[in-house]
Amino acid sequence: MTRFIEFTGGDVEAYLHAQEQKDLLRFITCGSVDDGKSTLIGRLLYEAKMLFEDQLTALEADSKKMGTQGGNLDFALLVDGLAAEREQGITIDVAYRAFTTDKRKFIVADTPGHEQYTRNMATGGSTADLAIILMDARKGVLTQTRRHTFICTLLGIRHLVVAVNKMDLMGFDQDVFRKIEEDYRAFAKSIGADDVTVIPVSALMGDNMIDRSLNMPWYHGPTLMAHLETVPVGDDLETKPFRLPVQWVNRPNQNFRGFSGTIVSGKVKPGDAIKVLPSARTSTVERVVTYGGDLEEGIAGQSLTITLKDEIDISRGDVICAANDPVEVSDQFQVEILWMSDEPMLPGRPYLFKSSTKTVPGTLDDLKYKVNVNTMEHVAAKTLTLNEIGVCNLELDTPIAFAPYLENRHLGSFIIIDRFTNNTVGMGLIRFALRRAANIHWQAVDVHKNARAAIAGQKPAVLWFTGLSGAGKSTIANLVEKQLHAAGHMTYLLDGDNVRHGLNRDLGFTDADRVENIRRVGEVSKLMVDAGLLVLVSFISPFKSERLMARELMDEGEFIEIFVDTSLAEAEKRDVKGLYAKARRGEIEHFTGISSPYEKPENPEIRVDTSKLTPEGAADVIVQYLKDAGRLTKA
Ligand code: ADX
Repeated sequence: MTRFIEFTGGDVEAYLHAQEQKDLLRFITCGSVDDGKSTLIGRLLYEAKMLFEDQLTALEADSKKMGTQGGNLDFALLVDGLAAEREQGITIDVAYRAFTTDKRKFIVADTPGHEQYTRNMATGGSTADLAIILMDARKGVLTQTRRHTFICTLLGIRHLVVAVNKMDLMGFDQDVFRKIEEDYRAFAKSIGADDVTVIPVSALMGDNMIDRSLNMPWYHGPTLMAHLETVPVGDDLETKPFRLPVQWVNRPNQNFRGFSGTIVSGKVKPGDAIKVLPSARTSTVERVVTYGGDLEEGIAGQSLTITLKDEIDISRGDVICAANDPVEVSDQFQVEILWMSDEPMLPGRPYLFKSSTKTVPGTLDDLKYKVNVNTMEHVAAKTLTLNEIGVCNLELDTPIAFAPYLENRHLGSFIIIDRFTNNTVGMGLIRFALRRAANIHWQAVDVHKNARAAIAGQKPAVLWFTGLSGAGKSTIANLVEKQLHAAGHMTYLLDGDNVRHGLNRDLGFTDADRVENIRRVGEVSKLMVDAGLLVLVSFISPFKSERLMARELMDEGEFIEIFVDTSLAEAEKRDVKGLYAKARRGEIEHFTGISSPYEKPENPEIRVDTSKLTPEGAADVIVQYLKDAGRLTKA
């Protein structure tokens, strides 16, 4: 028997009915276990009588056993216990927990406490109406507090509640509280967060949690629970224009074709004129269908299917909108990025961008600035590291339908995914679209690359040599070029050391600079392929992502990756340029193989093992490959 049933007085029907009438507040808690987050959530759940009997019994037993709170219940044990269970399933970052009081229903997004990653916070926060920002009265406003507050405002969470916890440890001192409140309000104001409630509490002792604290008679504001129960939640999504991102096209048989998803704003009813983006096709709504039958009207938050009067082409990821007020479409945006990975953000590297229903490849441009969350200053930076926030432009490979984040949280946000690990490495919010690219069209020309190449009896291609410094890339590439040239082919050799003296002389060897180095070389080789040449590229090109980026610039069969495989020990033994010795002495920073990584190709078209082949032997293998692949067409 659970307490849940017990306190309904047995009349489950009546209870459930009452529940349905209550409104719902979604909130998140920001703070660490040390700030008392688990204790705070645990107490709220306990007071709302939403703990199950068996959990309570276990909690009482655990509290006695651990003796952490002198025989009293230790709520932290409860929440931490659940967190520990959760963390075994590594994929779940955020657990949503529902509870209810007489006045309202609540869903709290609970994030594993000791994990400081903002990722969890951002995930839980994207649907929250309110955030409880927890701080320790002994410590006051910390960098973490500022970061959490800033992220909450980025996420568009309107109501902020600051729980100044552990007031008992500061003797319930009014001055301590006032000072913290003043500091916090000054900061909040500076970033435009104006709906802020600051409450002095002791989550452990219960002061100002549910009941008014007798220890702090000087505080006249609401208790935490009173505030959560009364803060207005009504969001105005229903009054905004109709938007339905299509999650799937529902076609069970020949006679039915519907478009399913969740309405993210507005309303829809049969007869409404709609427009589908990005295609801009129009039609009229025929039916609004749910599992339980047809509706007269569908509203924001509902998951449903609509059918249209006309047969128009709509696919997953399209957004169906009110015809007279559609969303925008673009492939270039100014965005705000929150970086969530230990690997830094690299401008120019291709990532996947997953917006409400579409996942599209794209790149982030150079940062305009990053934000110092303590001072809110804009700081010049090349990359973002874990938990950092910055602003830059985003270029997608295909246009998407979107709305600026401040207009619609669902259509204006995206997550950033690493293409190799599939990890979420960041999240972003669309500020606005940039239109400049739409005006630059690829100039159509009459003489095509194959026509140019045919004159030299070849099909254009890039021979992309990758490998450690001193692996032998340039030596082999040089021999290949000589053979091709002797046979009357048109070639060009792009070599790292040379290109870095001209086109790329502004670049060094940080990860970000190497990404840019390879991006430019990829673009240059694409132009040369378009000129009809056989292009030999000899760059360390240590990262898989950028080699893939270069590959994707070319047409099928044009990109030939050649892994010049020489072990680090061997390259270092040869040390033709004396660079390894210097790197070992610490005189060169970020040296590939020593203080900077080299990611081996997994499926290169050609692998040359230099411990088995001479440079001449390797060159023969490569020329033979070109012949076999039909790139050399001379008789
Ligand atoms: S890449 O990593 O960006 O592809 P690239 O091929 O252009 O490198 O340049 C590598 C050459 O630069 C090496 O062969 C070496 O001569 C020189 N070099 C100087 N500093 C470094 C460094 N820190 N790491 C690797 N190569 C370096």
